[in-house]
Amino acid sequence: MDFKKNICVTGGAGFIGSHLVRLLVNKYPEYKIVNLDKLTYAGNLANLTDIENKPNYEFVKGDIVDTEFINDLFKQHQFDAVIHLAAESHVDRSIESPMDFIMTNIVGTANLLNAAKFNWKDNYDGKLFYHVSTDEVYGSLGETGMFLETTPYDPRSPYSSSKASSDHLVRAYYHTYKLPVVISNCSNNYGSHQFPEKLIPLFINNIKNKKPLPVYGKGENIRDWLWVEDHARAIDVIFHKAAIGETYNIGGHNEWTNIDLIKVLCKVMDRKLGRSEGESEQLITYVTDRAGHDMRYAIDATKLKNELGWVPSLQFEEGLENTIDWYLNNQEWLNNVTSGEYQKYYEQQYADR
Ligand code: NAD
Ligand code: TYD
Repeated sequence: MDFKKNICVTGGAGFIGSHLVRLLVNKYPEYKIVNLDKLTYAGNLANLTDIENKPNYEFVKGDIVDTEFINDLFKQHQFDAVIHLAAESHVDRSIESPMDFIMTNIVGTANLLNAAKFNWKDNYDGKLFYHVSTDEVYGSLGETGMFLETTPYDPRSPYSSSKASSDHLVRAYYHTYKLPVVISNCSNNYGSHQFPEKLIPLFINNIKNKKPLPVYGKGENIRDWLWVEDHARAIDVIFHKAAIGETYNIGGHNEWTNIDLIKVLCKVMDRKLGRSEGESEQLITYVTDRAGHDMRYAIDATKLKNELGWVPSLQFEEGLENTIDWYLNNQEWLNNVTSGEYQKYYEQQYADR
């Protein structure tokens, strides 16, 4: 079958990638979606069982750091576009193992840029390299202000520095070689299928199992939370409507201190699990702070709203309820990802805090 576009989504077996792949495969039967993923601990094909047999979907296992493999893949598939999400994505892991982040996030992105440039052979008609990035590249805010697309980069963790480096490379290929690129920088996502190393699924799992809830520092750090499906919708809109070379910030206008968010989680979980009010809050345990812990992130997404008409669709309270329900109803998914290696990671990360 001839498809209107061949799109390579990298990291499509991960949290955000799987939501994006599902959206694109279902919404655009005329596009072929090739999901390229290494299946690290964070990649999980069980995230995509509902669409895995669709005729416009294909999974390819591979590493974006492998130059030869990437070049061959581009030759074989003649991609019209790349939507690049593959990354090492967890700040705490980047503190333990920065080189993994430097390889995948920087070298891997450079490989994809080179493959796109080489295979598109400077004929960029209808081609697009879409780089998915994070608000963490802008650094840490004080009590006021918000990140704009023009905010100078000031990354402070190995994770955010590696993502900032990749953003710079993408812009360099645009300015130097005229490679058609767009970039978006999004705030913290939450929703189904997120690996339980990140705050919300980790704490849902711990509350369920009556395990301590390790709050870093005083729990006063602030994050701006966006429902993952709204992020996927934003990527769809930007992919189709953005002018080449543009950057868009994506965010939920939804700032929470960690401790307030955790207390809401505890309250909703008590209700859903039939526990007495206040029971799960007893699990809160203040632990040693994350090294270099960014204080506050807040996104100003006005440009995306005014220029492309995107706004978040879901209120946080409703999104959180849906998210908790998903983890409680998908026990097998949670058991599978928290067995084996996960236990070792958990021990290493939390034993000495
Ligand atoms: P994730 O860790 O859940 O998924 C990452 C995926 O990339 C996994 O499927 C993994 O197997 C794959 N991958 C890792 N290394 C690879 C390699 N070398 N080659 C091929 N595949 C590889 O991450 P996520 O939370 O879904 O984030 C996706 C993207 O969005 C990342 O680029 C991240 O920086 C960005 N982002 C995430 C958030 C968030 O809140 N999670 C917010 C803003 C931006
Ligand atoms: P996280 O989900 O790791 O996202 P990020 O660091 O990329 O924002 O963490 C969200 C916030 O929650 C962050 O301020 C760190 C804090 N946190 C804890 O207090 N305890 C934990 O066990 C984890 C994983 C995070």
